[in-house]
Amino acid sequence: MQPGSCSPADRRLSALARHLQGSSAAMDHRTTLSASPTSGFDAAGSVFGHLARAPEDPILGVTVAYNKDRSPVKLNLGVGAYRTEEGKPLVLNVVRRAEHTLVNDSSRVKEYLPIVGLADFNKLSAKLIFGADSPAIQENRVTTVQCLSGTGSLRVGAEFLAKHYHQRTIYIPMPTWGNHPKVFTLAGLSVKTYHYYDPATRGLNFQGLLEDLGSAPSGAIVLLHACAHNPTGVDPTLGQWAQIRQLMRSKGLLPFFDSAYQGFASGNLDEDAQSVRIFVADGGECLVAQSYAKNMGLYGERVGALSIVCKTADVASRVESQLKLVIRPMYSNPPIHGASIVATILKDRNMFHDWTIELKAMADRIISMRQQLFDALSSRGTPGDWSHIIKQIGMFTFTGLNSEQVAFMTKEYHIYMTSDGRISMAGLSSRTVPHLADAIHAAVTRAV
Ligand SMILES: Cc1ncc(COP(=O)(O)O)c(C=O)c1O
Repeated sequence: MQPGSCSPADRRLSALARHLQGSSAAMDHRTTLSASPTSGFDAAGSVFGHLARAPEDPILGVTVAYNKDRSPVKLNLGVGAYRTEEGKPLVLNVVRRAEHTLVNDSSRVKEYLPIVGLADFNKLSAKLIFGADSPAIQENRVTTVQCLSGTGSLRVGAEFLAKHYHQRTIYIPMPTWGNHPKVFTLAGLSVKTYHYYDPATRGLNFQGLLEDLGSAPSGAIVLLHACAHNPTGVDPTLGQWAQIRQLMRSKGLLPFFDSAYQGFASGNLDEDAQSVRIFVADGGECLVAQSYAKNMGLYGERVGALSIVCKTADVASRVESQLKLVIRPMYSNPPIHGASIVATILKDRNMFHDWTIELKAMADRIISMRQQLFDALSSRGTPGDWSHIIKQIGMFTFTGLNSEQVAFMTKEYHIYMTSDGRISMAGLSSRTVPHLADAIHAAVTRAV
């Protein structure tokens, strides 16, 4: 696909943009209507009576459907949240310890944080992603602001770019996390896609990726998943990252990394940050959105960071001053608790060490689920090549099951997943693998 041409994915994105623009146009219209005392009301007298019911979010809606199911064997593999072998949500021991320390510290107060968040948290987050010895940090070329988890960091970065960057087009991989196009479109960027996944090999379409980025307009923004690509579980090799970097820098494309799974993919924090560090090492500029939802299990605490790496310390400090103007009218300043947990863990050598052990255990359990599912399908003689289950990395497996097969598995086996065939390996356990394998076997041998 040529980036300028109109693929089905681009058409869907255009429709999304029209839909989103339509909502604000409709809102303006309603503002006018509600000004009139006789119009804009339904039979019950509500000024909102004209609203159509919005569809459920494609990912969170899976959980809504799962919650309604009464079957004792129901299984939710839709949402990307870690579960223990017993199928329970996990609060890391080190998080409990950090919270204990915080609660027992009577000097702590609940004052507002600065607009950019907790200073320690920001410094330590930058070190975590760029490396303790990063020249960009030592030269004060990085500005880091605490944001509302990964999503909020992406949104603040996108709002900043829409306001201050000369190119408004962002290229996102096809496929990508379902919220990406919405976050970027609503921030005012124009979204285009680049080839990423090859359904035939269930691996990376590296040639397509290089061709699309090679014909992107100079200066365009490119969203890159730092590791554990969601939904495909397919990452470039380090050699491929080096080529992507060379191509992007030669064309002046601006990298915007989404790092939602650092440490969760390989079990090693440094290894999972290599893609980002390859780009930062060349002295060029980039943005990075970090999330602590998965790697510290802090999902609901909404803790994350946006870093912008600049050419000079002076530019970085001016960028930060403008980021404050973006953040202040959005949510004023970020919440204190989650960031305090993270800072407590990152600055204490023992707690940091214990975190890496617990993180590795989560990553290892997911890797073991991959092997168990692969073995279960092999032992059933399920038709097809399922080796991608053990080759893909991170929280998700992009199974290759189609939407009819997914619907069959939900109806007959009470297994819930997104309709694109993505399953969260973190939601599986040794107990539930046979049930999933039976369902997949039945779906590919019996379903249409
Ligand atoms: C690729 C990717 N980016 C960002 C996020 C954002 O997550 P959160 O806002 O919970 O940190 C997710 C979560 O699933 C994700 O998969």
